[in-house]
Amino acid sequence: MYNSIVKGIGHYVPEKIVTNDDLAKIMDTSDEWITERTGIKERRYFDPKKDTVQSMGAEASRIALDRAGLKPEDVDMIVFATLSPHYYFPGSGVLMQRELGIPAGVPSLDVRNACSGFMYSLSVADQFIKTGMYKTVLVVGSEIHSSGLDKTTRGRNVAVIFGDGAGAAVLQRSEEKGRGILSTHLHADGNFAEELCIKQPSSANEVWMNHDIVDHPDSRPYMNGNLVFKHAVVRFLEVIGEALKANQMTSEDINLLIPHQANLRISEFVRMKLKLAEGMVFNNIMKYGNTTAASIPIALSEAWEQGKIKEGDTICLAAFGSGFTWASALIKW
Ligand code: ACO
Repeated sequence: MYNSIVKGIGHYVPEKIVTNDDLAKIMDTSDEWITERTGIKERRYFDPKKDTVQSMGAEASRIALDRAGLKPEDVDMIVFATLSPHYYFPGSGVLMQRELGIPAGVPSLDVRNACSGFMYSLSVADQFIKTGMYKTVLVVGSEIHSSGLDKTTRGRNVAVIFGDGAGAAVLQRSEEKGRGILSTHLHADGNFAEELCIKQPSSANEVWMNHDIVDHPDSRPYMNGNLVFKHAVVRFLEVIGEALKANQMTSEDINLLIPHQANLRISEFVRMKLKLAEGMVFNNIMKYGNTTAASIPIALSEAWEQGKIKEGDTICLAAFGSGFTWASALIKW
């Protein structure tokens, strides 16, 4: 059995910075409310003339491949996570394949697990490498939320939280024991599907899309914020505990925890419960908001760039989101 190691990591965020004060000009909100409730100070919005989920994913991938010393031709499989795809179908992974020049014939899989999307993708990639099927798998999370948000006072509880961006990781086969991805754990509970969702357009309609549907609030994201918060803190702790137990470790063995950047208050709660010192949990939600599937690879890439991840470190990744879905991974870097 082989191991997967993270050979390279990269991220891309659009140039346009949107501050809390900018949002307060278009909806009834304030920097104080957003900062206190979420920790977010600003987020990035895409440039419709330049950015697509596949172009942003491609840019993050180019950096990750370059850092891995690899080329697009070396990729054996693509796993692409997004909840904001370019087309309804086909998935955005094939569009990124074309854009990056990854050869025709290389498989591309799209993952739709929202905030847990990157973690599910990482786990799928890891399994394909561990079984010996593929040697190099490109795992991408890329999101454009800004075009789908209700940026009026009606949608403010959701709109202030989300931002755009992309991150990528190159996983590669290794025969070194005890290094790379030590474990992944995935979970879902569909009983809460409608607590964090966009319901429309839907194949369940007699006509998939019409003018009434476009104007209906169901075509904008809905979030039961209080319920999401309550479940998130429980599931984060549970799934991190599961990862540690599976590897006979305790929270003292973690060098850095990178949680999905859902909300700074959720991160802080988890940090305190695990009794981790402040610098041991990486947060960048202040700068980017919640970028769902892109948040963990963006954070991983920034943490690595800042020298916060060194060879031999034990890194814990954990996510919770729509579905509900939740997941963790332990990596020996
Ligand atoms: N600006 C100003 N006021 C607002 C805003 C806003 N952007 N949004 C809501 N409010 C108002 C509400 O209308 C409400 O007013 P009222 O008391 O007059 O009715 C008041 O603020 C309090 O609203 P709540 O929803 O109860 O606010 P809460 O303290 O719960 O904070 C929040 C909302 C931040 C969404 C919180 O529930 C939360 O953190 N939830 C976790 C969900 C989360 O982090 N999701 C991230 C995405 S999902 C994921 O990645 C897992």
